[in-house]
Amino acid sequence: MSHLSAQVREHAQRLVELYPDRRSALLPICHIAQAQDGWLRPEAMEEIAELVGVSPAEVLGTASFYDMLYTEPVGRYVVAICTNIACMLDGAYELIEHAMAMRGVGLGGTTPDGLFTLEEAECLAGCDMAPCVQVNHRYVGKLDPEGFDVLVDDLRAGRKELDIPAHGVLCRVEREVGLATRAMGHAGVAEASKAQIGQGSTQGTGRNHLEDGSGAN
Ligand code: FES
Repeated sequence: MSHLSAQVREHAQRLVELYPDRRSALLPICHIAQAQDGWLRPEAMEEIAELVGVSPAEVLGTASFYDMLYTEPVGRYVVAICTNIACMLDGAYELIEHAMAMRGVGLGGTTPDGLFTLEEAECLAGCDMAPCVQVNHRYVGKLDPEGFDVLVDDLRAGRKELDIPAHGVLCRVEREVGLATRAMGHAGVAEASKAQIGQGSTQGTGRNHLEDGSGAN
């Protein structure tokens, strides 16, 4: 019996068809599997391996390499606090201490209710909002301890649900670009691209061409 839902499997199949080499779909499929469960379960990784034609160990090896993929359970909200130089100078460690004391967890730990996982992060490219905090990879901005408490209350009460979906959900809008690949075949897309380049077409024109595909990915 499949662990991945029919919807996820169907989406995964469409992703596989986008690439000349099916293993190229490994990372995007890991993300949609993670969106289903919040993390990559072993049974999900086995199915992904079968879908892209690699071994489960290769899926695990890839998933464990990337920070955004989790091979162990995490909370509904993964709270990442940057401690690189700009954030460190603006109170990141004080914020981490406050968060640990408030939530009763250490770094990498998850609260007993399964709601929050606390992480220390490298530069999140939000140095202008130091100390920078992300929840489920969404910026929540510069926070002091009081602001952190408000954020936690809002998350717990579900007041941020529209802005911050449960962990694993990267995007709630499915891509459409590239779907022509399925209809035309990869060789056809390559030929069409060459022809457009020959006509001096812009990148935007090429994108529109690809968007003439057959629906959402
Ligand atoms: S140093 Fe913290 S976001 Fe860059």
